[in-house]
Amino acid sequence: MTDKKSFYITTPIYYPSGKLHIGSAYTTIACDVLARYKRLMGYDVFYLTGLDEHGQKIQDKAAEAGLEPQAYVDQMAAGVKDLWQLLDISYDKFIRTTDDYHEQVVGQIFERLLSQDDIYLGEYSGWYSVSDEEFFTESQLAEVFRDETGKVTGGIAPSGHEVEWVSEASYFLRLSKYADRLVAYYQEHPEFIQPAGRMNEMLKNFIEPGLEDLAVSRTTFTWGVPVPSDPKHVVYVWIDALVNYITALGYGQADSSQFDQFWPADVHMIGKDILRFHSIYWPIILMALDLPLPKRLVAHGWFVMKDGKMSKSKGNVVYPEMLVERYGLDPLRYYLMRSLPVGSDGTFTPEDYVGRINYELANDLGNLLNRTVAMINKYFDGQVPAYAGHVTAVDGLLTDFIAQEVAQYHEQMEAVDYPRALEAIWNIISRTNKYIDETAPWLLVKDESKVAELASSMSHLAASLRVVAHLIQPFMMATSQAIMEQLGMESVTSLSKLSLADLPKGLSVVKKGSPIFPRLEMEEEIGYIKAQMEAGKPQEETDWDPEKVSLTSSKPEIKFDSFDAVEIRVAQVKAVEKVEGSDKLLKFRLDAGDGTDRQILSGIAKYCPNEQELVGKKLQIVANLKPRKMMGLISQGMILSAEHEGVLTVLTVDDQVPNGSLIG
Ligand code: ME8
Ligand code: MG
Repeated sequence: MTDKKSFYITTPIYYPSGKLHIGSAYTTIACDVLARYKRLMGYDVFYLTGLDEHGQKIQDKAAEAGLEPQAYVDQMAAGVKDLWQLLDISYDKFIRTTDDYHEQVVGQIFERLLSQDDIYLGEYSGWYSVSDEEFFTESQLAEVFRDETGKVTGGIAPSGHEVEWVSEASYFLRLSKYADRLVAYYQEHPEFIQPAGRMNEMLKNFIEPGLEDLAVSRTTFTWGVPVPSDPKHVVYVWIDALVNYITALGYGQADSSQFDQFWPADVHMIGKDILRFHSIYWPIILMALDLPLPKRLVAHGWFVMKDGKMSKSKGNVVYPEMLVERYGLDPLRYYLMRSLPVGSDGTFTPEDYVGRINYELANDLGNLLNRTVAMINKYFDGQVPAYAGHVTAVDGLLTDFIAQEVAQYHEQMEAVDYPRALEAIWNIISRTNKYIDETAPWLLVKDESKVAELASSMSHLAASLRVVAHLIQPFMMATSQAIMEQLGMESVTSLSKLSLADLPKGLSVVKKGSPIFPRLEMEEEIGYIKAQMEAGKPQEETDWDPEKVSLTSSKPEIKFDSFDAVEIRVAQVKAVEKVEGSDKLLKFRLDAGDGTDRQILSGIAKYCPNEQELVGKKLQIVANLKPRKMMGLISQGMILSAEHEGVLTVLTVDDQVPNGSLIG
């Protein structure tokens, strides 16, 4: 055990359902910044991230990629770890929900809740969004589709994803039983959900209308943790996912010392899209397990594009790798942390990206460092003059200003308001740039009686930059280090000494510092980023936007898989006759190329008065339809025909097409 204070911070565990874009990079960097900040403040930090690898969505993605789910997630996990390395993410543990220890504890937790009667077996019918892995009632849908009779045939979830109808046996978690305790917890911990307004949203939209019990198992696919006592059910992926926050610490395992030290979590950082799961389901699971609840949920907004959500088909997805490769890591970390206001969405634009690098990094910060290093070289031979308190009134003003902004910085870091924390640092930078003009060292150097003022100006500049290098350390590690090196100082290891008077005495400045952020050609770089975004657009979809193309069809849209499941073949008519006792049915004997005759009954008699003309013709049949009985006769498939204004025509194919050919 340690006598340091502990701090536990987590990211959501991401679905490895595609390459991660700057959205997930945002959350992961935001947690990294807090983890680094807390470490510099002397905390013993545990930073957890990982992947949510089970569920229908992943099973479908794996199938699309032609891989077994495990092989698919293994491959994706390697890519995600590479990305976090590129972004210099200082996580302490990377959990994968396919890890054995995790799966075991998920099973144990499920069984415990079952034995406590917090989970019971029932029947679920309702809408499900595979993309969100989320259940919806009809009234929660953003849009519903109906057929001519008014029957609901489908719909769209609030996220914009399609829902499908699910009806299956399912276990349920008794949310209703815990609703009052949850509300009481909200009331006693107004700081539990940030931004604060979102607590009301949860109460109004979900809790006050009455919490319905949550379906917590699925039976229609297999990629998940089987319920130990009833393995045809797999545990609902969100239950599997949420408990990662405790299994990662050793909960339910032989060594639970990290769990004892770090639980409850200090911060679960999440996107606003998954607040419902973290603020309602997760606390209730913990209550049922008799465990303390997390201290804070910090829900951030989304990075969106000028034309809305990022989507491959729109060609507006930005991947972090491209930005890091071209401009380096620190501008990306800076941009993401600076540009997303707390509690709302932010728009990523290439103009803004390049602009912030040029104005805020190259101009404001880069120039301050360059000017300072150049003047100390020129006026004091590279030796930083010792700090001697205030020599002039301006020195005092600068000192007070910096103290005030440092306090502001800490306050905003605690509140996880990074735009404001960075603003406090940039206030120091601007004020220090102004200080150079106010003290005008180039005039002081011409007057021998002003040598003390000149020395004070230089030591204040170095001291201010030293403070800046400390404050930016959690955000931009390399830049912090570069500034300290150019000032001839050791790299930052703690944020405890942040007053100007802490300037180390008599250290030399490196002789000639190179610019930490080279200036960019604005137009050229904006063009570059735009071209990279376009290049990510899938080839076959370049000329249309699937979200805008609506199909003209009377039946609801189906997925490719549903169509692909139908086997249509060419079959030649060997014989046909009317079925006795029916004026509709014809009985066909067909050769579908498999060496045996196939019998199909078809209700087209009244359209084929001369049915014998069909003998020898090649037709199209559905070959894998489940056989059924009609008028006591077996029918092994279906004959395709075209219908127009009540008139039916049997579809034939050219004589040259061999019997049994697959149509698709
Ligand atoms: O929901 N801007 O995983 P997920 C900002 N597996 N953040 C964004 C973003 C954007 N455009 N897009 C995504 C899941 N995010 C579950 C979580 S946790 C027990 C299980 C971030 O891969 C945001 O934090 O869909 C969001 O909540 C997270 O990625 C969801 O990632
Ligand atoms: Mg999601």
